[in-house]
Parts: sequence; structure tokens; C-alpha cells
Amino acid sequence: MSRKVIIVGNWKMNKTAAEAKAFIAEFKPMAESMNNVQVGIAPTFTSLAAAVEAAKGTNIMVGAQNVHWAESGAFTGEISAAMLKEVGVQFVIVGHSERRQYFGETDETVNKRTKAALAAGLDVIVCIGESLEEREGNKTECVLKTQLNGGLAGLSAVDMDKIVIAYEPVWAIGTGKTATPEMADDTQAFCRKVVAEMFGGEVAEKVRIQYGGSMKGDNAAELVAKPNIDGGLIGGASLKAASFAELVNNAING
Ligand code: PGA
Repeated sequence: MSRKVIIVGNWKMNKTAAEAKAFIAEFKPMAESMNNVQVGIAPTFTSLAAAVEAAKGTNIMVGAQNVHWAESGAFTGEISAAMLKEVGVQFVIVGHSERRQYFGETDETVNKRTKAALAAGLDVIVCIGESLEEREGNKTECVLKTQLNGGLAGLSAVDMDKIVIAYEPVWAIGTGKTATPEMADDTQAFCRKVVAEMFGGEVAEKVRIQYGGSMKGDNAAELVAKPNIDGGLIGGASLKAASFAELVNNAING
């Protein structure tokens, strides 16, 4: 089965609303020729409305970087799924390693956020990944299985249509160290096996698994050429329109 490649720029805490608009204006004509790929960006909350407006009528998807699980209430600093939906975003990233590392995200909160986003009609990119210590201690598979079992607990096969998994080895994020395509592919094959155990072979065949961690223009093609790598979640290389476009084009054209 062929899965459509999905490449998303995770802008993290970068770009004001004006900068997001300027990026989209520059990227828009480049995106027009990007076929057989889904391309998205995830700006900060304060830039979402401007980004949604600027991306109207284009093939650029706009998503958020986090969502709270409650509908409303006393959660200072948080944003609900309905709020994101009203702004017009299509998807949300959940469980990024920076959220796990700095903001106390756990598999349980990943699961709650994912369910709230799905209930509001948003697609979800669920991030998983092992630390360097875990990889060196031969714990990678155990860590990923726990993250998948916890993060996707209670979801149905139908829900899984709206889920993309992003495998991001923590040691490769923002470090310039990329997992080799073989290593990433093997690990992502393992993740697919876990999805098969949880939801059956058909869901596992369909689910898209992105690689993330120092993916850029000059390594995107060899990563995405691998059978279990269905795209990328891109930090640094998504911040400039030209480098993001180069990455997407290399990923889909080889
Ligand atoms: P990077 O970030 O591409 O800058 O390594 C990837 C991510 O954290 O999603």
C-alpha cells in the first residue's frame, strides 16, 4: 500500500504572526507545484489566526503545537481543542519531546490531549522517541512501545485514520545528528508492528509514520525513500521558505 507523504514544519517558539504571514506569502508559490504530498506548518498559538488566513485557498495545512484536554475551565495558559477548531486549524502536534522534557508531558496526558483533539475534529500528530541514554541502554523498543500503548490507548481503528505518528529520536532533535535511514526505518517498522498489535494489520499498513530529528534538504530523500518513513516533522529546516521547499521537493522527487 502506498501512503501519502506528509511533511510538517514544527516552528516551535519561533515567528511572530507577521513573520508567519511573510513565510506563507513566500512559500505559497513554491507549494503550488508540490503534488502527491501533504505539507503543513505548525506556528505558535498567537500566529495561528494569521497563518490560517494567509494559507486559505492553498495546499498548506496549518496546525497547532499543543492542545489541552479539557473543554474549558481553570487551566491558566492553556488552549482548548474547540478554540483551535474555531481558529480554523486542521491538526495539532501532541507529545513532542520538548513538551515531555520541559513541561511534564506524560503518555497519559498525550492520550488525553489526543482524544480531545479527535473529538473536536482535528487530526493529530503524536510524537514519540527515545533519549540517547535509552538507545544506548537498548531500551528503545520498550520505550516506544510504552509511548504508543499509552498515547494511543482507547482509540478506535476509525480514530487512527486521523492520527499520524512522528518518530523523533530525542538525541537527533536540533543536534545535527540524524538517525541513519536504516536505523530510522528499522525503528519505524517496529512502531508499525506495535500499531498492528494494538489495532490490527490494516490500520498499521495505513498509518503514516514521520521521521523527525535534523531532517533537512540533503538527507530528506534517503530517509523518505525508506519503506516505513512516510514523511517528516521538521524543526530548524522549516523556518525558511526556501529550505523547507527544498526539503519537501527532495523528499518527494528523490
Ligand atoms: P529539528 O527538530 O528538525 O530541528 O531537529 C525536529 C522536531 O523537533 O520536530
